[in-house]
Amino acid sequence: MEDGKFHFLSLTLLLFFFITLSQAFTPEDNYLINCGSTLETTPIDDTRSFIGDSSKQGSIFLTSTGSLVIKDQNPSRDSSVLYHTARVFTKESSFKFGVKRTGTHLVRLHFYPFVAQSYDLSSAQFDVSVNGFSLLSDFSVGRGNSSGSLLVLKEYLVMVDSEDIVMLFSPLGKSGFGFVNAIEVFSAPDDLVVDQGVHLISSKGAGIYNGLSSKVLETVHRINVGGLKITPFNDTLWRTWIPDENFLILKSAAKPVARSRPPNYEEGLATREIAPDQVYMTAQEMNKDNITLASKFNITWAFPLNPNVMEYLVRLHFCDIVSTSLNQLYFDVFINDYYAYKDLDLSSLSDHLLAAPYYVDFVTNSENSENIHVSVGPSELSSSMRINAILNGVEIMRIVDGGGSISRSGSKKKPLGVLLGAAVGGFCLLCVVILAVLVAIKCRKSKSKPKPGETGTWAPLRVPGSSSYSKVSEGTTNASYGVNLGLKIPFAEIQHATNNFDKNLIIGSGGFGLVYKGVMRDNTKVAVKRGVPESRQGLPEFQSEITVLSKIRHRHLVGLVGYCEEQSEMILVYEFMEKGPLKNHLYGSGPLSPLSWKQRLEICIGSARGVHYLHTGSTQGVIHRDIKSTNILLDEGYVAKVADFGLSRAGPCIDETHVSTGVKGSFGYLDPEYFKRQQLTDKSDVYSFGVVLLEVLCARPAVDPSLSREQVNLAEWGMLWQKKGLLRQIIDQNLVGEIKSSSLRKFGETAEKCLADYGVDRPTMGDVLWNLEYVLQLQLQEPGIPREPHEDSTTAASELPIPAAIPRDISTNIRIPANMSDGSSVVTTSQIFSQLITNEGR
Ligand SMILES: *[C@@H]1O[C@H](CO)[C@@H](O)[C@H](O)[C@H]1NC(C)=O
Ligand SMILES: *[C@@H]1O[C@H](CO)[C@@H](O)[C@H](O)[C@H]1NC(C)=O
Ligand SMILES: *[C@@H]1O[C@H](CO)[C@@H](O)[C@H](O)[C@H]1NC(C)=O
Ligand SMILES: *[C@@H]1O[C@H](CO)[C@@H](O)[C@H](O)[C@H]1NC(C)=O
Repeated sequence: MEDGKFHFLSLTLLLFFFITLSQAFTPEDNYLINCGSTLETTPIDDTRSFIGDSSKQGSIFLTSTGSLVIKDQNPSRDSSVLYHTARVFTKESSFKFGVKRTGTHLVRLHFYPFVAQSYDLSSAQFDVSVNGFSLLSDFSVGRGNSSGSLLVLKEYLVMVDSEDIVMLFSPLGKSGFGFVNAIEVFSAPDDLVVDQGVHLISSKGAGIYNGLSSKVLETVHRINVGGLKITPFNDTLWRTWIPDENFLILKSAAKPVARSRPPNYEEGLATREIAPDQVYMTAQEMNKDNITLASKFNITWAFPLNPNVMEYLVRLHFCDIVSTSLNQLYFDVFINDYYAYKDLDLSSLSDHLLAAPYYVDFVTNSENSENIHVSVGPSELSSSMRINAILNGVEIMRIVDGGGSISRSGSKKKPLGVLLGAAVGGFCLLCVVILAVLVAIKCRKSKSKPKPGETGTWAPLRVPGSSSYSKVSEGTTNASYGVNLGLKIPFAEIQHATNNFDKNLIIGSGGFGLVYKGVMRDNTKVAVKRGVPESRQGLPEFQSEITVLSKIRHRHLVGLVGYCEEQSEMILVYEFMEKGPLKNHLYGSGPLSPLSWKQRLEICIGSARGVHYLHTGSTQGVIHRDIKSTNILLDEGYVAKVADFGLSRAGPCIDETHVSTGVKGSFGYLDPEYFKRQQLTDKSDVYSFGVVLLEVLCARPAVDPSLSREQVNLAEWGMLWQKKGLLRQIIDQNLVGEIKSSSLRKFGETAEKCLADYGVDRPTMGDVLWNLEYVLQLQLQEPGIPREPHEDSTTAASELPIPAAIPRDISTNIRIPANMSDGSSVVTTSQIFSQLITNEGR
């Protein structure tokens, strides 16, 4: 497997040169007009040629008259040829462009005022609309700016849903004329603006923003952080990116960094069209060299805005070009002083690759301010040695009010044209096809194992393979529970995949119904969970699971392939997990070979990562509520993934500390505080996770009624021995002699903290994760250096293998419960047990 991956990587590298040369994006609709000119010209900083609208070829786009052509008699030496001519509109006039492919289009208008033939373009005053939607109203370029060039470039992203684009110029007011020097209208890549994963940040709290792709967006800032200006010549979509220096509030807080090799684009994260290599190859990081700054600080940029506009899209680009190994960099992102992303861990979002480009979209309410502030700073999780924070790029776009899909009434929708730009020569085309096939074959091969972390978080969902139902669109959501309709799978497809629910394919059963193994038409293996037909009892769980899983994606969470809700069926289709539940590898029937301590720790770390992501990965956070060893599944390579989101709930909102809810969950794993107060926090999951840790160590069920009274409940039994310092007495027989004392000690302490009676005393999942990584490092340490790193910080430290992550000792995190007098009413787990013993759990 590792080998296959290596070959794939080297193949990719080998062909990289070719790919970059030949895979350039080719827009299907591509109109580039040099207005007022008879010439076809290619600007110096561009790669494309613009045709003159006064030439035979170009004039066909000009649909109505009332315009004339002017030419600058003394063009400035350094202005582009494009700006030596202009078309002046003295009456309402329009351009009309045919649409071969509906979808998002980029529209750019170039205005470069000069004086010619009694027209002073800087005094022009006019409106511009596209298909009746106003882009510029009462617009006037003015005299440009003494500091820079005279050029005013307006760029829009517009969803087009009609046969053609009509761009109307209407002169206004005193001047009585309008003008334009150049026009670009071209198709954008499908994934440039997507609806999924857009976070709303506002004073009223965080949330999800819907329907972004149908809004008209106007570019306000496009910044290559830590890098140089990028001209259309070097950008995949012929954009201009400018350096960030002038926007930094404290220049000395930031230090530019660069990487010489191209970034590692990964499917499901950012693509080269989202931002080009050069954006991801440079960044600003914290300037830790400047000793006059505090040990922890933010880097903050202020981007000026028009205070009258309410909503802005802020797209942040990240690529970890500063770390030397995975999981070193944890940082927080703020927009306008609100948390936008807490504990961002870029390497966990990619498939364990450094320097994988990633972007996140936020919509923010500008609150009439004149600036938008973007800050990055070290997260609480960063160890003192690895404090850092980075940013690679920023785009800020105004969300134009009243946006909506621009379609002209009465026009029929045209099917997507399959037309290749003439620019692609036959040879190039052949290269592309051969490469695509090669890569596709390689991808498919490496997919025989459900590829971990196939897509990053918040990225648009991709259904494995690609058949009729693989197109994901969240445009129309089911009003009742915001379900991603693109994940719907026809019942017939599921019948086919499971051989009509063949009994021999049953791989499990639960409260919800039966689970079948299935194979989709594209040969992806899936697990099909079928709710008991005719009973709608599980409906809330079913909907909750779809809602949660369709919004998130993580290497350590079992991925949802799709669902079916036809003919009163409730069916969920997941990626298939070859090795089944963790529980089956720990105890019970079956001749499974016992897992080593290292394997067990890796499984714990993986599932901790999954749960940590649930808690922190989205602005609101999700509480799983049913963490247990049967809900941790293992794939072919024993990579752990957390499953079963049927009970999960959105976490508390910013100003609440908990969610009140009826007690649900599985017996033996229930947080005593949650049980007592019915208040759900993410610390309830931490408790359940502590029980799983003991299960992994002791290889016995959380509750075993066949044992003596004091042994029945694993959490109590384990803590009894842990407190005596004799945890080793009750470990799995298969582990005897394998676990190093330091590793076991730390593991026991970690479990103990998780099982604290009060949520406030328990560590966060992030802390648990750090500590488990430390436990693993302690286990892997070479014999002969049994000391913990902090016990020997001088010479031996440099010889220590890795500490991939320097852990924070969780004992430093303990908070004293605010109200100890509550202790009198503590319900012990055994009391709960006696109340619930007849309940089978779920
Ligand atoms: C394109 O990028 C290269 C490498 O960064 C640079 O040397 C060149 O000047 C750029 N070209 C233009 C037209 O910006
Ligand atoms: C040039 O731009 C700056 C800031 O963008 C502005 O303050 C100034 O008034 C502008 N000058 C002219 C002549 O428009
Ligand atoms: C360090 O920071 C201080 C205060 O922000 C600044 O004045 C100084 O120029 C910085 N020094 C360096 C070397 O960046
Ligand atoms: C970073 O900025 C945020 C938002 O303004 C603030 O809450 C936080 O305390 C800052 N962090 C540091 C280390 O200054």
